[in-house]
Amino acid sequence: MADRKAVVLVARRTFDDAIARLREHFEVRVNDDDAVWPQDELIRRLQGVQGVYITGSEQIDATLLDACPDLRAVCSMAVGYNNVDLPACTARGVLVSNAPDVLTETTADFGFALMMATARRISESEHFLRRGEWHKWSYDMFAGSDVHGSTLGILGMGRIGQAIARRGHLGFGMRVIYHNRSRLAPALEAPLAAQWVEKDALLQQADHLVIVVPYSPASHHAIGARELGLMKPSATLTNIARGGVVDDAALAQALATRRIAAAGLDVFEGEPQVHPGLLTVPNVVLTPHIASASIPTRLAMSHLAVDNLIAALSGGRPPTALNPELLNRGAEPA
Ligand code: DGY
Repeated sequence: MADRKAVVLVARRTFDDAIARLREHFEVRVNDDDAVWPQDELIRRLQGVQGVYITGSEQIDATLLDACPDLRAVCSMAVGYNNVDLPACTARGVLVSNAPDVLTETTADFGFALMMATARRISESEHFLRRGEWHKWSYDMFAGSDVHGSTLGILGMGRIGQAIARRGHLGFGMRVIYHNRSRLAPALEAPLAAQWVEKDALLQQADHLVIVVPYSPASHHAIGARELGLMKPSATLTNIARGGVVDDAALAQALATRRIAAAGLDVFEGEPQVHPGLLTVPNVVLTPHIASASIPTRLAMSHLAVDNLIAALSGGRPPTALNPELLNRGAEPA
């Protein structure tokens, strides 16, 4: 193995520049068809592979790790890593990295855009126009709710939540309230004029609720029928976090009965499947998990995953390792 190049599998299609960088260091296997491989196929492809470049679609669990004993590094181009069993990787000495920071502003732009499209009924009115139903102007046609000057409620106040709060406070004069497991330091709260509140108070007071909390068993269905029942009937809900944080069946029901005014959803339980109830209600804006999808940002995410792989497999320090304790223990380079 001394002078043999390590083998890297790129589990989904990505930028040519990223592949070219990997080829400078490794023997690289790619997924030409961009297929989402079933688990047994992924395991088969990982035989004899030391490093894998993944996205949010691949499931890296204990069964896969046990079946792929050569694997030393799992590097994701996504920031969310609920698809990776981090403790199982750490227990087996497998380095894991994600791609934080590089997508923060782009994702916040999208979250804000989705919230505005939801409040101002942009998709619903466009569909009406495309159906040829626009015959006259009327005073209340697609009248929605204001964003400027309203109360922005943020569930999950990490980097992306703070970037959304900044847009709301500085750009739109919004009152910012948030709920997070831990309160931000006063030095972070002050420039956003952000106020920590209990979760129920957040739901009761927000005109526009934006969900940015990572998915974990603890956040599963953090927003369900009870929580939707606490919201104002005029409120909107925007989810750019992960499917499963919101109970989509309960949300579809709340939209159909106008328990809340509208929703903007970029992520779904069981995506790319979408709950059928969400496809038939008019008061929802639906997008296919594209919050970080600007070309520069996706490129940066991809290069960060490559940086991590190169470092992880050459005994270096991956810039955004999720289990850096392995480095301190002196994990063996491939
Ligand atoms: C992320 O990076 O987590 C985005 O949701 C894309 O998967």
